[in-house]
Amino acid sequence: MRKKTLKDFDFKGKKALVRVDFNVPLADGQITDDTRIQAALPTIQYLINEGARVILMSHLGRPKGEVNEAYRMDPVAQRLAELLNKEVSKVDDCIGPEVEEAVNNMQDGDVLVLENTRFYKEETKNDPDFAKKLASIADVFVSDAFGTVHRAHASTVGVAEHLPAVAGFLLQRELEALGDVMENPEHPFVAIMGGAKVSDKIGVIRNLMDKIDYLLVGGGIANTFIRAKGYETGKSLVEEDKLDLAKELLKEAEEKGVELVLPVDVVVADDFSNDANFKAVTIDNIPADWESLDSGGPKTIEKYSEIIKNARTVIWNGPIGVFELDNFAKGTFAIAEAMAESKARTIIGGGDSAAAIKKAGLEDKMTHISTGGGASLMFFEGKPLPGVEALDDLD
Ligand code: 3PG
Repeated sequence: MRKKTLKDFDFKGKKALVRVDFNVPLADGQITDDTRIQAALPTIQYLINEGARVILMSHLGRPKGEVNEAYRMDPVAQRLAELLNKEVSKVDDCIGPEVEEAVNNMQDGDVLVLENTRFYKEETKNDPDFAKKLASIADVFVSDAFGTVHRAHASTVGVAEHLPAVAGFLLQRELEALGDVMENPEHPFVAIMGGAKVSDKIGVIRNLMDKIDYLLVGGGIANTFIRAKGYETGKSLVEEDKLDLAKELLKEAEEKGVELVLPVDVVVADDFSNDANFKAVTIDNIPADWESLDSGGPKTIEKYSEIIKNARTVIWNGPIGVFELDNFAKGTFAIAEAMAESKARTIIGGGDSAAAIKKAGLEDKMTHISTGGGASLMFFEGKPLPGVEALDDLD
């Protein structure tokens, strides 16, 4: 990696301001998935062991620049204390006198969690004064928030202008895992793209076309391709204004020798509900009043699973059906199972696909599950990540 990392700095007695991504899902004030907190532990534990004073900052949710009780960092600090088995202090602000005092009282090895950085509108604007205030309490900046490095915010980019800035272990591990698959993929190289919209994935699909052998399409994206091929799609989610684009991508794939694979059958329903009537139909038989909620009809599952099992590298971004509803989760879980059974290097691009892998209980069978949905997408698009660019280069 061409950026400085934890090993390039002597942390003994230093105040380390660490940007983590503790943007965890909450329900009734309880954390429902602490993966992101767990993923930051190696860096936090290393800094404690090195005798740093560890100051953690993160956003949580999208409070839009206002204090919002539902998005305070208290449950996160509590969970962190349990995981570290150590006292963790928390302050109710991320800049200002209360923070300065708490930092001045810290001893080597102490851990302090700052309040949600997005309680200030200056955060997402990368306001220079706000970034300067954030940085003013520390001697060094550590970025370990892979899930947020695609955002050019004060806590991810702005602070790096004022302090030595290095990457933490999680960021390093993510960049190495994703970088390796893009630079040295073994073939056959299969990409699975699901999710709602083609428009969200155009950049990724275009960038991957030069590297992959197969592109398996599912979810809302597949509906748009199916329609572009001239089939009726009933009430399925289709991006009408992207039909030409879908045709272009089909042509581009052909020219580049990439097999762009579409579902052959899908599961359709007469309503967007788990109680709806549903059935599997071939793509030339989608009823006018029904909608496709799972691209994984039995023949599609068979076809996609076969390709995945014979692959040497697989990356997956986006579920291929509405897997939150049990009746429409089959296709998505079948992808997860085929990846688990495959000998390929398997990379999951965060977000909903990571949630699906967890729901299927197959986390241990994957090579790498990214902690960043948006960040890994931007990485696969081949675009520079602002929160990585901002860090110090190796000499
Ligand atoms: C995420 O959950 O993808 C990251 O924490 C970034 O959150 P954001 O999309 O609200 O910037």
